[in-house]
Amino acid sequence: MASVISDIRAQFPALNERVYGKKLVYFDNAATSQRLKAVTDLQSKLSVTANANIHRAVHSLSSKATEVYESAREAAAGFISAPGRENVVITSGTTSAINTVAHGFARAILKKGDKVLISEAEHHSNIVSWQLACDMSGAKISVIPVEESGELSLSRVESMLDCNVKILAVAHVSNVLGIENPIAEIISLAHSRNVPVLIDGAQGIVHKQVNVRALDCDFYAFSTHKLYGPTGVGILYGKKEWLDKLPPMLGGGDMVETVTFSKTTFAPVPLKFEAGTPNFLSAAAMTPALEFAAEIRKNKEVIAHESALMEKMEFCLGQIPGLHLAGACSDSRIPLYSFSIDGIHPEDAAQILDKMGVAVRSGLMCAEPIVKKYSEKGLTRVSLLPYNTEEEIDIFADALSKTIKMLS
Ligand code: ALA
Repeated sequence: MASVISDIRAQFPALNERVYGKKLVYFDNAATSQRLKAVTDLQSKLSVTANANIHRAVHSLSSKATEVYESAREAAAGFISAPGRENVVITSGTTSAINTVAHGFARAILKKGDKVLISEAEHHSNIVSWQLACDMSGAKISVIPVEESGELSLSRVESMLDCNVKILAVAHVSNVLGIENPIAEIISLAHSRNVPVLIDGAQGIVHKQVNVRALDCDFYAFSTHKLYGPTGVGILYGKKEWLDKLPPMLGGGDMVETVTFSKTTFAPVPLKFEAGTPNFLSAAAMTPALEFAAEIRKNKEVIAHESALMEKMEFCLGQIPGLHLAGACSDSRIPLYSFSIDGIHPEDAAQILDKMGVAVRSGLMCAEPIVKKYSEKGLTRVSLLPYNTEEEIDIFADALSKTIKMLS
């Protein structure tokens, strides 16, 4: 193993855990990545040195908490090349970010006869939030089918962008297929029809450099717990004109300017969308995670290591008789593979793999429509990060062969 990878692994104490006495092989990174030690250290430190409510009091502890929270916002803005801090709403995760936009659209934009365009390969958070918005507004969801290869065809997107579409909401990378959608082209197509675009970046941002200004997306949502960082924290990037236009989903403290019983005026963005006491210490602790992610994705050895992991995983999966991968292998894939195996229930396979120390995801993966397109019973998924190793793939491949023998 290259020393850069050993150095990276050393920053993730959880990777040394044992499960049923076996060395942990953690291949469920697309659900939640392991957390960087610098993040947990900072969370512990701030819990003692800066535990006071943000934006409210004039005392020193509160000022310190506010300062670290606001610097994390700056770090997030820098990470995605957002124009400024006002474009970055701190949320509890991708789900809350998408719901904030969907709710705002339901109240301010959508009406009967309008359409919300999504793809067939969306996570539930980018389906159900829009169903709720449609229930509120009388609009309807329209679904772009995904090709058998798992790819989203631009000509299909184009043909479905009619004049009733008021927003297009699509994943950067599906959490089931692991294939990067051509989001730059999709955004440009949508904008040529005056349709704004929301990108669910929960999976994409982990493996791809994102520059929201170059992409020109209207909204981009992601979570930090998939990105080596804290749980319960996410980011909603929005163009300022959109954030100004949309009403807030939640009302409460810190999101207001003045409150009387007859009328309330809201705080400027982004605080308009941050009602109540946020998860401020965890949010503050996203900074080292974002710095780490930015650093390793520039490292040539890490990039080569990730390619080697993918090549090896694709080879191993290809050797297993009766294994069917959801979506084709292509240059636009991230190290995320969902598959079915003839005659094997995915949950049974995942349970046996767990007994051998290998953590994988199984079932409907919060994306029931696309999973069922490939297998009614669900799928098994392995998802890797640069701290994973080729040795771990060998352990997984051996464990999977034993599992198949046991279940056949
Ligand atoms: N959305 C997460 C996943 O894909 C939980 O597993």
